[in-house]
Amino acid sequence: MPDRYAVIGNPVSHSKSPWIHAQFAHACAQDIEYGRIEAPLDGFAAAVDVFRASGGRGANVTVPFKQEAFRYCASVSERAGEARAVNTLVLDGDAPWGDNTDGIGLLRDLEFNLGFVLKGRSVLVMGAGGAAQGVVPSLRAAGPDRLVVANRTVDKAHALAARFEGTIGCGYADLAGESFDLVVNATSAGLTGELPPLPPARRLFARGALAYDMVYGRDTPFLALARAAQVRSSDGAGMLVEQAAESFLVWRGVRPATRPVLDALRKG
Ligand code: ATR
Repeated sequence: MPDRYAVIGNPVSHSKSPWIHAQFAHACAQDIEYGRIEAPLDGFAAAVDVFRASGGRGANVTVPFKQEAFRYCASVSERAGEARAVNTLVLDGDAPWGDNTDGIGLLRDLEFNLGFVLKGRSVLVMGAGGAAQGVVPSLRAAGPDRLVVANRTVDKAHALAARFEGTIGCGYADLAGESFDLVVNATSAGLTGELPPLPPARRLFARGALAYDMVYGRDTPFLALARAAQVRSSDGAGMLVEQAAESFLVWRGVRPATRPVLDALRKG
């Protein structure tokens, strides 16, 4: 019998995780089965309980349950503790354990796949919700010269920045006249075809800047803005594959090669 894993979210039908983990399992000769579980919005813990009781060994957690997954776990990794969110559940021990591979996934995509070294650079993260919270600790640990978190609700940016020394929180209006080497869109604005109220792109993006949208498989207004300003840009496909590879490592003890899977994902 293969070991069983799943991605749990709502909605989850669009998730590429089953396909990605099937590629990893094949490449690493691991006998696993990886499915999808759509938990009711008020039924996350019950859904994980059922999966665990039926032999499920681990799960990825996606929107909107990452914070609830953090509370569900008896203990978590240091990086999940910093993010206060869990995207990787380990269910085969005595009690559920949680990890968060989103931050390292973004970092690996930036530094290895895109060749963007963060050390000494100026970085802007847009958004202060769960997605931003998941990646700010890793971005900060990579040693940027400056890390600014901007959010529409300014209090949330301040609260997030206050948790991470050296990080600055502000509103979008405060960005006038500032420029950055890396701008990461961690808002959900693109999902509704919206763009955070940024100052003009020609100033915001420093020479040779990278615009990164954590959303995957959607041409967001932010990516369109970067293209129009002739700024290099990337969607979140690489982050998706890299965070999956880290989860696979946590569960199986082997880290699959990501490049072939990312290339195949991009080809559709
Ligand atoms: P997630 O877990 O995806 O981060 P979230 O916690 O609901 O979801 O956070 C969504 C983020 O996108 C927030 O930072 C939100 O800004 P507010 O805190 O001001 O609500 C941001 N966001 C969503 N739509 C936006 C828009 N049209 N313009 C700017 N920011 C937006």
